[in-house]
Amino acid sequence: MDASRFTCRHLLGSAAFATAAAGATTWLGALRSARAEEEGGRPSALATGAPVPLRHAEIPGFLSREQLGLHHAQHYGGALAALGGIEARLYGDTGETDKATRRELGRAQSEKANSVLLHELYFAGVTPGAQAPPTHLAGALTKRFGSLDRWRSDLEACALAANGWAMLARHPVNDRLYHVVSDAHDVGPLWLARPILLIDMYEHAFYVDYRTQRAAYVAAWFEHLDWAEAERRWRA
Ligand SMILES: [Fe+2]
Repeated sequence: MDASRFTCRHLLGSAAFATAAAGATTWLGALRSARAEEEGGRPSALATGAPVPLRHAEIPGFLSREQLGLHHAQHYGGALAALGGIEARLYGDTGETDKATRRELGRAQSEKANSVLLHELYFAGVTPGAQAPPTHLAGALTKRFGSLDRWRSDLEACALAANGWAMLARHPVNDRLYHVVSDAHDVGPLWLARPILLIDMYEHAFYVDYRTQRAAYVAAWFEHLDWAEAERRWRA
């Protein structure tokens, strides 16, 4: 089927939905276990309830030990703790049935769960030292965006426009690459799309090292991408 003609009806009624769902499940399974098995990492806190340690305590030329430590402990750790509190209320003995309370808890649960997952992908996606994108992924970026220069300038523009996150994602429904701009953890997701590269644009992610120099932070991020990790996510 021509992916451009894909509709909600197709999604709900065809085998393509099963394929898309299987792809997402595979990716999630990979997120839970692949790094743990390959590199001595840890599965997602969404699976275990325990925070995943930083891969790198500092990344020279990009982020200091203080910046990464505060970000990891206060914001990633804070989101995980908040999620635990929300879920204790949702799944406790009494639950929450008041409409306004249940609505807010549902929104907050999505926000905190997304924050946990996105931070894990962000921390695992950067590494000391500049790398070049692998051939296959570079080809996919060139095919979608016209050239690597255009890809980078577009993602850079997305990052500088975002208040929360900017990311490159691969959508399993049509197998296309997208740049997603998010102004908060729970605002602007592209459902089912798999993040390949992502940058945290909340001020807490860069203010210790870069103050208000958002463009310098974004430029340094591009020079410290873990393209091997991006390739794993792209192929998952
Ligand atoms: Fe953050």
